Amino acid sequence: MPIHATSNFWILETEHSAYAFGLDADGRLVNCYWGERLLHPGDYPTPGIPGGWASFNDAGQLAREEYPAESGLKYIEPCFKASYADGARDSVLCFEKAEQQENELKIHLRDEQQALKIILGYRIHPAGDLLERWAEATNESQAVIRLERILSAQWHLPRARAYRLSHLYGRWADEWNVCREALTMGVKVLESRRITTSHHANPWFAVDGGRADEDHGEVWFGALAWSGNWKFIAETTEFGSTRLSLGLNDWDFAWQLHPGETFSTPAVISGYTPDGFGAASRRLHDFIREQVLPNGQALRKVLYNSWEATEFNVDETSQAALAELAAEMGVELFVMDDGWFHGRDHDRAGLGDWWPDDKKFPNGLKPLVERVNALGMEFGLWVEPEMVNPDSDLYRAHPDWAIHFPGRSRSEARNQLILNFARAEVQEYILEKLDKILSENNIRFIKWDMNRNASEPGWQGAPGDPRELWVRYVQGVYRVWGELRKRHPQVTWQSCSGGGGRVDLGILRLADQAWVSDNTEPTARLNIQEGYSQVYPACTMEAWVTDMGPDYLPLEFRMHVSMCGALGIGGHLVRWGAEKRVEAAKWIALYKEIRPIIQFGDLYRLRSAQENSFSALEYVSKDRKDAVLFAFRSHQPLIPYLEPQPPIYLRGLDPAALYTLEGCEAVRSGLAWMRTGIDLHLFDYQSTVRRIRQVS
Ligand code: DGJ
Repeated sequence: MPIHATSNFWILETEHSAYAFGLDADGRLVNCYWGERLLHPGDYPTPGIPGGWASFNDAGQLAREEYPAESGLKYIEPCFKASYADGARDSVLCFEKAEQQENELKIHLRDEQQALKIILGYRIHPAGDLLERWAEATNESQAVIRLERILSAQWHLPRARAYRLSHLYGRWADEWNVCREALTMGVKVLESRRITTSHHANPWFAVDGGRADEDHGEVWFGALAWSGNWKFIAETTEFGSTRLSLGLNDWDFAWQLHPGETFSTPAVISGYTPDGFGAASRRLHDFIREQVLPNGQALRKVLYNSWEATEFNVDETSQAALAELAAEMGVELFVMDDGWFHGRDHDRAGLGDWWPDDKKFPNGLKPLVERVNALGMEFGLWVEPEMVNPDSDLYRAHPDWAIHFPGRSRSEARNQLILNFARAEVQEYILEKLDKILSENNIRFIKWDMNRNASEPGWQGAPGDPRELWVRYVQGVYRVWGELRKRHPQVTWQSCSGGGGRVDLGILRLADQAWVSDNTEPTARLNIQEGYSQVYPACTMEAWVTDMGPDYLPLEFRMHVSMCGALGIGGHLVRWGAEKRVEAAKWIALYKEIRPIIQFGDLYRLRSAQENSFSALEYVSKDRKDAVLFAFRSHQPLIPYLEPQPPIYLRGLDPAALYTLEGCEAVRSGLAWMRTGIDLHLFDYQSTVRRIRQVS
């Protein structure tokens, strides 16, 4: 039974992990265990005797509360803080009841005086070894309750150990760097205050005891399904406790919860594995493919994107010329990027006016779409719906629709402002415009971009507290995107925010794939893709081969890097010349053969690109019959033969089955390939892709 429950103790078991909590003698809901699944329900520790430490630290502070609210003598990072009509600003949450349904448990808490109900939601994913959590607050009183902080969950790690936190950091064109750092006494905060997920950090954590690696060691991990402001807090105390919290950012957050209303937090997904960072990533990849993505099992097409080739200079002739060459190479989807709509000759005008520019497309998009279709490819289009240029018909008609503080200056970034997607009329305008384009043209792919972050977050005439903008904006984006998906189910969607600024488990419910970075230089890309793969699966990782970086980087190297994800081409095909296009066509053909393994298989990071100039990764099909090995040597300062190139040990094969590895004569057992290793001799900017096939 995956959920064992008594009247005051709950054990949530997945195939290999377990999470247990219960009521202590003072009635607090406290965590008792998070780790490997134990043999018997009686093996799990139950809530201990609550204890304090002098008059300065009472039992409330020392307790490992499941969902602490701001109250009493706690002084720890709470999950919940609200203020009430009677002036009270604390919440004393008392257990009321538990409701259980197969894999789901709901714990009802209620404030001791205020008519506030909090439901803690728990859903286990037994086969995936994951636990989903969220919280709901319902106002059962007659007055408004003001929410000031409402996180999705708090977790407690086993006591009295030292921990290391892994997280992702970066900036535009340099996203997805992995940082591993000790959690020392105090509070470590990661967050976004930008109205979107951000390039700078990602709402994901992995915590280990300091010595875990890709294949070994206990790792506790989690990720948030939200595309707006978020906050992660790791708090290590003088009492040997480490608690982790994740959810909506409370910075500039406010929410008026009216009588009868419920506020639900975004979900977090968390897990435990004793098998290192690689296993943690594979669990998330499976979950995202199976439970988050709308069509996680659909093969991602090889696309061409025009941005780096033509930038804003798009028209029927230039795009058709690229499309013809792309089709010859085996591309399946042709995407016209920025520059196609009214007045969009540069980045200073046009955003908001979502109809074809009549100078560039005098007969609309149809002739180009039909031409692309006649070449055997699908057609895709770029949009940036949340934005407006002051130089646009939309802004001239509705300057008040942009986010701003009335009467004060509005900071522009890339010459644009943000439309207030919290407003119904803004949502309706964008819905109508995009619906029209999608209804009138055979468009099968939309790249949804977002090229700046919020500033001056004002909302004149807001129905509630204007600070609700941070949350209602994201809900508005979800609504419009979701509605368009519903009306146009034939369309595949890409989330882009100047590269990887909006990738999270929230947007991946709407977007089939993501643009990971505007940096397409392939050696940088190896690092970027490795960081991205900590959380997100290869089928979502759009990766184009472009002309960025020095000319001496071979096309083969560029292709191999991009073949590790959902392959795309973004170079200037006319300038490529026939020889290069023929070579690219050969790699595209190979990619089409191996993409089911890459997009749906298990990823093993064999040697880190972020840490080494010689790196390798492997994808293994779920039935373990096929695998693909990629290895790369980027530039290293030493003369190549001076730096020893270590053997690569394959992973994930069936130990007892026999396999061949392309380029080697031997037929060996999976165990042998995994234990004895193979030597690959690569010079600077050389790479290799090798198929591994089961022969028995
Ligand atoms: C930023 C995106 O990341 C690029 O790929 C491209 O679409 C530009 N925006 C277009 O303005």
